Amino acid sequence: AEPVPFRGEHQAGIVTPAQDRMHFVALDVVTKDPAELRLLLKEWTRAAERMTYGAEAAPGGVVGGGPYQPPADTGEALDLPPSNLTITIGYGPSLFDGRFGLAGRKPEALHDLPGFVGDDLDPARSGGDLCIQACADDPQVAVHAIRNLIRIGLGVISVRWSQLGFGRTSSTSTSQTTPRNLFGFKDGTANIKAEDSDALTKHVWVDPADVPGNAAWMAGGSYLVTRRIRMHIEVWDRTPLQEQEDIFGRDKAVGASLHLPVDKRDEFAPLDFEAKGADNQPRIPMAAHVRLAHQSQLGGIRILRRGYNFTDGSDGSGHLDAGLFFVAFVRDAHKQFVPMQQALARADVLNEYIEHTGSALFAAPPGLGTDDDWGTQLF
Ligand code: HEM
Repeated sequence: AEPVPFRGEHQAGIVTPAQDRMHFVALDVVTKDPAELRLLLKEWTRAAERMTYGAEAAPGGVVGGGPYQPPADTGEALDLPPSNLTITIGYGPSLFDGRFGLAGRKPEALHDLPGFVGDDLDPARSGGDLCIQACADDPQVAVHAIRNLIRIGLGVISVRWSQLGFGRTSSTSTSQTTPRNLFGFKDGTANIKAEDSDALTKHVWVDPADVPGNAAWMAGGSYLVTRRIRMHIEVWDRTPLQEQEDIFGRDKAVGASLHLPVDKRDEFAPLDFEAKGADNQPRIPMAAHVRLAHQSQLGGIRILRRGYNFTDGSDGSGHLDAGLFFVAFVRDAHKQFVPMQQALARADVLNEYIEHTGSALFAAPPGLGTDDDWGTQLF
């Protein structure tokens, strides 16, 4: 298969059909020298582009440097195909705090998310000056990409937190089937898809008018929100099927709206929030997840979801530490993600089964032109 193009109007890894695996890392900048950061961004561009096409991070990387120095590529992806690798960069609000002379270039919408009711955030799994998202259909390819970018950044950046995702929980193209999350439900059915360019313009890509003056570098970019959401799967697994379906507002087998009779269930049929059941109650409950998150309840707001399932071992008290690493791309997180998450935090019946344990916001810049690099683009 052809590699995913690295350069273009927008960064890869946003509307690229969601790959099966993810390695995400949030980094802090440890140097005080803006020139070092700028040079690193340039070196990262070169290495990321090479790895996207299946090459070593540097020419002759694995053994070409000779026996007397550490190899310039760690080697574990040497014989593997590109596997649809995409590498997507993002900048956190703290990068623009003045340390690197970037304060004047901070987009207005890039400021920390507010707290939400029920948040249980771990600072060690939140925030970061920078992030890199690597997605691929082979986990070794994604991990290799992140590992080598970190290695190149030695002395300039340090790892703040990282997350592996082992299965996509979203589809971002009509060419894909809808995967399932760890609660066993199809996830991504009503997502914004790559083919819907009107929705992308309206809800995903930053418009030039959103970022006047010195923030214009962000036009064509997108804001990236991450939420590490622990799912209490043992509690869920003791919940009756009907209750599970009422919580989401869709059925478990097909992923269809609950108002449809069983023999007419179609995953992509529109949700009908007015339809009543035999008890004269709305068939999709008032506190169902899909009702609260639906644009009709939120003044037309939508988001592009691109999350992954995770299990990070166990919590030491007999439960798996598992859940959904929620990733969303939006034109303005404070106008889209924030009101949506406020509505969910307030009323979603799903909250009994989940816990938000990490959070971050990054500005993912637009794609790179032919001779451009991330350093030149930002500084
Ligand atoms: C829809 C699961 C968290 C926003 C859905 C659906 C499922 C689901 C099964 C229905 C299928 C679909 O249309 O994709 C989950 C789980 C979560 C979670 C298990 C946490 C562990 C969130 C969060 C947000 C969100 C934090 C945003 C703040 C949405 C939206 C929809 C949706 C916008 C589509 C609603 C529509 O237009 O029909 N989710 N979700 N979800 N979810 Fe979530």
